[in-house]
Amino acid sequence: MELYQHPYPSAALQAAHPFTELEFHRMSEDEMDARAEAFFARLDARRSVRMFSDEPVPRRLVEQAIRTAATAPSGAHKQPWRFVATDNPKVKRAIRIAAEEEERVNYLNNRMNPEWQAALAPLGTDHHKEFLEIAPWIVVLFEERFEILADGTRRKNYYVKESVGIAAGIFITALHNMGLATLTHTPTPMAFLRAILGRPANERPFIMFPIGYPLPGSKVPDLTRKPLDEVAVFVEEPIR
Ligand SMILES: Cc1cc2nc3c(=O)[nH]c(=O)nc-3n(C[C@H](O)[C@H](O)[C@H](O)COP(=O)(O)O)c2cc1C
Repeated sequence: MELYQHPYPSAALQAAHPFTELEFHRMSEDEMDARAEAFFARLDARRSVRMFSDEPVPRRLVEQAIRTAATAPSGAHKQPWRFVATDNPKVKRAIRIAAEEEERVNYLNNRMNPEWQAALAPLGTDHHKEFLEIAPWIVVLFEERFEILADGTRRKNYYVKESVGIAAGIFITALHNMGLATLTHTPTPMAFLRAILGRPANERPFIMFPIGYPLPGSKVPDLTRKPLDEVAVFVEEPIR
């Protein structure tokens, strides 16, 4: 018996839309184990950096990280992301000033409630955001809530937050893999980023990434990550 009674794509689907052969490189289990372990070790060494050096980073590396992130899967393949990059000192300064204004309200005027502030205490983050001017690059990832077609009509995007979140993860991974550091930064509310960067109304700031090399001698919180048995559940039989 064939494994599938309803193969994908059907003949009718292939007649209506283009399909191509999947390129898939099958590996030996030894190779899979080796690659899996090496990749884990590499990613386990990633840390959020809050003290960047001012050493320049070539634009092509930032472009390549964006290109890599844009391989992410997305709802209905709408690719609802826009990576807005700047290394311009005036733009970075404007972003720093606006971010510090918002964060001053968050941290000093208690827009973040006490529970939230307590959760942040071990990280020791505050309203000072000097790194936004010092890091050579800032990339702001915008979510495209809907698409505006050439004739001005709107076309819906699907699973925007899920899609952009996955792209953000790949972006961080790509930067780390190429030897750069970043911080996942959300100085909320982030509407100022749309104004400073001149983005249209259908785009909403999702996460801001200062990018560069860590300042030599940087310190990071001594965090532990949850072990496998706290983050994974393997279900052996139907629960009901
Ligand atoms: C969605 C999201 C938003 C974050 N926002 C901030 C932020 O605004 N400022 C900051 O210093 N860190 C921020 N972080 C970084 C986290 O504090 C950090 O990832 C966490 O402490 C774990 O540390 P690690 O990234 O070094 O593993 C954010 C992380 C995520 C995933």
